[in-house]
Amino acid sequence: MGKSLNIMMASSECVPFAKSGGLADVVGALPAALKALGHNVIVVMPKYRSIDADKFKLEPYLEPMGVWMGDSEEWCAVQHTVAAGGVPVYFIEADKYFDREGLYNDAANNDYLDNPRRFGFLSRAALQLCKDIGFKPDIIHAHDWQTALMPAYLKIWHWDDQILGDAASMLTIHNIGYQGVADAAHYDYLGLQWGNFTADKLEDHGRVNFLKGGVQYADMVNTVSPKYAWETRTPEMAYGLAPYLNDKGANYIGILNGVDYDDWNPAVDTLIPAQYTPEDLSGKKECKRALQARFLLEEDDTIPVMGVVSRLADQKGLDLLADAIDAILTNMRVQLVLLGSGDKALEQFFGDLPQRFPGRAGSFIGYNNEVAHWIEAGCDMFLMPSRYEPCGLNQIYSLKYGTLPVVRATGGLEDTVEQYNEVTGTGTGFKFSEASAHAVYYTIGWAVSTYYDRRDDWDAMVQQAMQQRFSWEDSARAYEKAYRQAIKNKQAS
Ligand code: ADP
Ligand code: GLC
Repeated sequence: MGKSLNIMMASSECVPFAKSGGLADVVGALPAALKALGHNVIVVMPKYRSIDADKFKLEPYLEPMGVWMGDSEEWCAVQHTVAAGGVPVYFIEADKYFDREGLYNDAANNDYLDNPRRFGFLSRAALQLCKDIGFKPDIIHAHDWQTALMPAYLKIWHWDDQILGDAASMLTIHNIGYQGVADAAHYDYLGLQWGNFTADKLEDHGRVNFLKGGVQYADMVNTVSPKYAWETRTPEMAYGLAPYLNDKGANYIGILNGVDYDDWNPAVDTLIPAQYTPEDLSGKKECKRALQARFLLEEDDTIPVMGVVSRLADQKGLDLLADAIDAILTNMRVQLVLLGSGDKALEQFFGDLPQRFPGRAGSFIGYNNEVAHWIEAGCDMFLMPSRYEPCGLNQIYSLKYGTLPVVRATGGLEDTVEQYNEVTGTGTGFKFSEASAHAVYYTIGWAVSTYYDRRDDWDAMVQQAMQQRFSWEDSARAYEKAYRQAIKNKQAS
């Protein structure tokens, strides 16, 4: 045990305040796990319109706070609350940037055009906050492109600063498919000095690349599974960043996410119709019946139900499922329930599916946490045909709920799901390699036939799956080790 660390984490999402995907789950859980190891952690995020100040007991904390952007100072306010586990959370209140309907895009799924400014501002404001409240961090921890400029600001502007001068930085890449690549017209506003607008730092084919800048300036970089760390060292999987990640050498690593088993555990989950444990699965049957009723499916517990909970984005490979689903529902005795939103064509396709396959398919287009829990609990299998998956949380939740994952063997899906072996009857799920509708069709077929024809194996897999544990404590220890390496790297530089 070394000395306890002061850690400032900034993120565009954090459970329970604002969420679009797994990033929010991670930033909602990792700080408390680090705190339990004895560290001081604060979280900084935007005060979006959707965050209910009363519900979360937000209190005005600081006003005004001046943030230098380019060559002018902008003003915002700061609100504060204490999250689960006793972690202080600070909200940057800048109405011109965050008082809007969505986190990143409007209702038509179009990105806000000023996203580079919004999140450049958040990054600079998070650093300023440390100064204004006198929090002297040992570590600045950035997450994804939205806060990836913090390491750059730190080195460009705050290297000599009393509060921030000694801080080392760490960047976690949750998704390399979103890099925050912006028109160079934003560069003056971001205030990162034109001397740094070079290919080895912030420039990318004439544009500014937030994530690349973060990789280049951070003292330590990680992604959210060991497999994805390897994959992103190859040109096919890294969206142009492989050379920079390879240059980091041992300072680019994979740390698997944990799961918050207070939220995602069928034994204590109060959102689902009935609780259950590996020893007594009767509650799971009840959840299945309730799910079939809610989605107007044929209420028959001998028919396997497969579930999807997902952002409808290219990454998730649900177009492959769309291409295969007619044949699946025509040829196999199986049901589908899908919850998701995003891509409009996929929303339309899956939204219409129940009409085309009444009693066989159900869908909910939108975002709904309760339905997500119902699907995890009530289904027999869970589908993730992802083209790439840095970690993936839903398959890990599925394991705990005894809902066997059917996944493409990529990234964190490969690391967390053990392939079914028909010879030994062991495994926790069904994996395929090829990103094609055929592979989706045949792997679902394999799972469905196992459900009907090798029932003992299925039941044993459910038991094996429910015993898996991906704890935040282990991940937090890995982050602690990485932080100490970041500090060493900073001192050596
Ligand atoms: P990603 O971060 O790429 O979206 P993850 O599997 O890491 O993928 O995390 C997704 C998280 O978002 C899970 O907690 C999942 O339950 C949740 N989620 C995704 N889509 C929805 C939705 N439409 N409604 C409710 N929860 C959703
Ligand atoms: C991302 C990835 C997902 C990961 C999550 C949390 O959005 O797509 O695979 O689980 O971040 O790290």
